[in-house]
Amino acid sequence: MKIVEQIDAMQRVAQHAKKTDRQIGFVPTMGYLHAGHISLVNEARRRVGSTGLVVVSIYVNPTQFAPSEDLTKYPRNLVRDRRLCRNAGVDVIFLPSDAVMYPGRAEGLHSTWVLEDRLSQGMEGASRATHFRGVTTVVAKLFNCVLPDIAVFGAKDWQQAAVVKRMITDLNFPIELVVAPTHREADGLAMSSRNAYLSPAERRQATVLWRVLCEAQALVRQSVNGLPAASLKRTLAKRVAAEPDARLDYIEVFDGATLAPARRVQQGAHMALAVYLGKTRLIDNAAL
Ligand code: PAF
Repeated sequence: MKIVEQIDAMQRVAQHAKKTDRQIGFVPTMGYLHAGHISLVNEARRRVGSTGLVVVSIYVNPTQFAPSEDLTKYPRNLVRDRRLCRNAGVDVIFLPSDAVMYPGRAEGLHSTWVLEDRLSQGMEGASRATHFRGVTTVVAKLFNCVLPDIAVFGAKDWQQAAVVKRMITDLNFPIELVVAPTHREADGLAMSSRNAYLSPAERRQATVLWRVLCEAQALVRQSVNGLPAASLKRTLAKRVAAEPDARLDYIEVFDGATLAPARRVQQGAHMALAVYLGKTRLIDNAAL
């Protein structure tokens, strides 16, 4: 397994793979890897085959964090990440520094952004104003470094995957986006690097996200003609409020492909929610 820190070196590795007809499968991450990330790596390997090149980037992207967010305390463990990648058969870890990724940013010179301005407006975009601008910018930059044929994103960040998919189409990246299923703990909590912040009591209450999604699935399946979204959201908000350390940020029902909000919830609609457990903000989603 190679560790590559410079962009020109990464591009050389990628170009060499292309010349030798090896497909490149790419999993962008912010590190602190868990079984959910490894399932994305496995999916990338499945897609590119044993001769393909699987690249994982580990980069905690500062531009997708607001000043009030958890950038400096975002969990990091490179030793463990390297071991997990090696064991999962990753070929290359792309590990750029801030200076490599954003030359001139520290001096206030970075001034070019990639902005998706429709799908990124609601939900995460409404709660975290500049978040998706940072995501699309860094993902476009990473695509230019890694030159992947296939990029694998997790379904847990459903809106992110939709936004990136739009960006790939709108900016003509020759990349196939694969959205791999959310990996869950035994009690249903979606795996996330941020779970590491939870106290034992918050961790117990954090299952409320999955419980809410399961209840929504059951209610919609029992309904004859679907349900009004507003009353379903009110019912579910009460479940979140019942947890002493939980605070609902948003809960939305929408079309899973277009992200258009739904007034009436039918089977197959998509639901996403964001909940604070103490200071930690968790997200989850599912098809109903
Ligand atoms: O999902 C993430 O971990 C990040 O948003 C990503 C795609 C690696 C961009 O920094």
